Amino acid sequence: MNSEKLIIIENLNIYGNTYLLTIEQSESISKSSPGQFVMIFPSDRFEPLLARPMSIHRVDSQNKTFSILYHAIGQGTLLISKMKKGDYIKIIGPLGNPIPYNRKANNFLLIAGGIGIAPLVWFADELVTLKKNVVMLIGARDKNNLFPLKKLQQEIEIEVMTDDGSEGAKGFVTDKLKSYEDWADEICLCGPEVMFESANKIINSFASQIPAYALFEKEMACGLGICYGCAIKDNKSKSKLVCTKGPTFFLSEIYD
Ligand code: FES
Repeated sequence: MNSEKLIIIENLNIYGNTYLLTIEQSESISKSSPGQFVMIFPSDRFEPLLARPMSIHRVDSQNKTFSILYHAIGQGTLLISKMKKGDYIKIIGPLGNPIPYNRKANNFLLIAGGIGIAPLVWFADELVTLKKNVVMLIGARDKNNLFPLKKLQQEIEIEVMTDDGSEGAKGFVTDKLKSYEDWADEICLCGPEVMFESANKIINSFASQIPAYALFEKEMACGLGICYGCAIKDNKSKSKLVCTKGPTFFLSEIYD
């Protein structure tokens, strides 16, 4: 996998400490699919500062760009947040595997916790294009940390939960899960692992099993299956590399 330097089109703070980085599309990115990610290098000058794994948030084939939604919270992402239109940014990707959804399913429940919304927006775009029914349950700390809902396609049904009730209902996104038991054909999650665990317990209590899968986010040194830094354990205590086997795993593989 080659690294490439691509031109930044825009790098905007769109809410809270969350930025939307729009980058020119390369040939390899144009062939990517929802669920895949890229490794982004915060700077040439600060190497060997490690690259950061970031989900592809959206691909805009018309304008030949793609975007990354990220929290500027650590040294690397703060450096990325300072980059400007016209700067070059070094990336490797696309990496990882596309979301393994069933093309024949019709009703998709997408559950996003915090910055976990990043890859689900593009997945939702693809599902809407395929005329699937999409419900998104979006959880955020408060209204200031909520992804702008107007950026989602109007065909998507949205339910919002915030920890403090400042927008939508107060509580966790998983609180709403049970009400979709009879509707959802497939469930896709992205967010903190504690959310996956609690969703798994609820889904296991359903009368019939609904395929449920989650995109895992891990610190990654290489993104290429070399360093083993991104390993997670499945429910048989076997290691799985998020970068090469994931980032999406069925909850039934990982949890009991
Ligand atoms: Fe190095 Fe996955 S990040 S093996």
